[in-house]
Amino acid sequence: MAGKSHTMTDRGYLTQVQYLTDANLVARQSIYAYQRPRIDLVETVLDLAALTGAETVADVGCGNGMYLAGLARRGHRGRVLGLDLSVGMLQAASGRAPGAALVNADAARLPLADGQADVTLAMHMLYHVPDKQAAARELRRITRPGGTVLVVLNDDDHQLQLRQLLASAAADIGMTVDPLYGWGLDAAPAGIRLGGGAELLATVFAVVQRHDFASELRVPDPQPALDYLRSMRLTQASGDPDRLLAAVAARLPAGPFTITTHCGCLICR
Ligand SMILES: C[S@@+](CC[C@H](N)C(=O)[O-])C[C@H]1O[C@@H](n2cnc3c(N)ncnc32)[C@H](O)[C@@H]1O
Repeated sequence: MAGKSHTMTDRGYLTQVQYLTDANLVARQSIYAYQRPRIDLVETVLDLAALTGAETVADVGCGNGMYLAGLARRGHRGRVLGLDLSVGMLQAASGRAPGAALVNADAARLPLADGQADVTLAMHMLYHVPDKQAAARELRRITRPGGTVLVVLNDDDHQLQLRQLLASAAADIGMTVDPLYGWGLDAAPAGIRLGGGAELLATVFAVVQRHDFASELRVPDPQPALDYLRSMRLTQASGDPDRLLAAVAARLPAGPFTITTHCGCLICR
């Protein structure tokens, strides 16, 4: 299982495998159709941003453009920039947000001037940046004084049942996986969750406000959970995803399965 430890932050894995296209992300986004109560995270976060519609918005790690599309739906008039490490993700974003300027960039070294953005988004992406402190400083640097940075991260109990299931299935076939961090102890420092994110951002911003969003996925049968697990870094890094997923399938109940969801938005000023 060579290379299994650092897939969370490994540039080659992120740009050439996990986010080569948006297929893995789409597989994970799809499972939210089963969320009850449903939380529309894009709309909720954009509401928290309290936009007038005229701001310059930078979406760092924009992925396949869900937030860029949300801004377009709202008729946002200001300049919109989507930045991502993966060219494939930017291609996917271009279909969703034709009005946005898309830039291939690393969050730890953003090609933007100081104070260029009024509002900066970093949604579900800090997990992947090796130097998270540098990324936090960059988010602050590119945002004008008085502007707002919104960071979304998962909390520790997010999809814990799925990760525990994966760990138990892995143990069934002689693999060892930490349900929170991954394969091997040296993977742990790469992880960041909501609480750690709030602490990190408080070293860079004067004010960090935390908003939690907790709900459940009620999947009716095993297939959505298996599709989701197949898209995950933890599964792909196992060295034998098919065998691991067969072990998961043997443990999944034939009927409904409930999975906790818990993420939060950190509003930084
Ligand atoms: C989980 S996806 C989230 C996408 C989007 N923000 C969303 O919430 O739908 C993480 C994204 O971060 C990007 N990414 C990973 N490392 C990055 C880095 N160092 N700088 C910029 N983007 C990065 C990935 O290519 C991927 O598109």
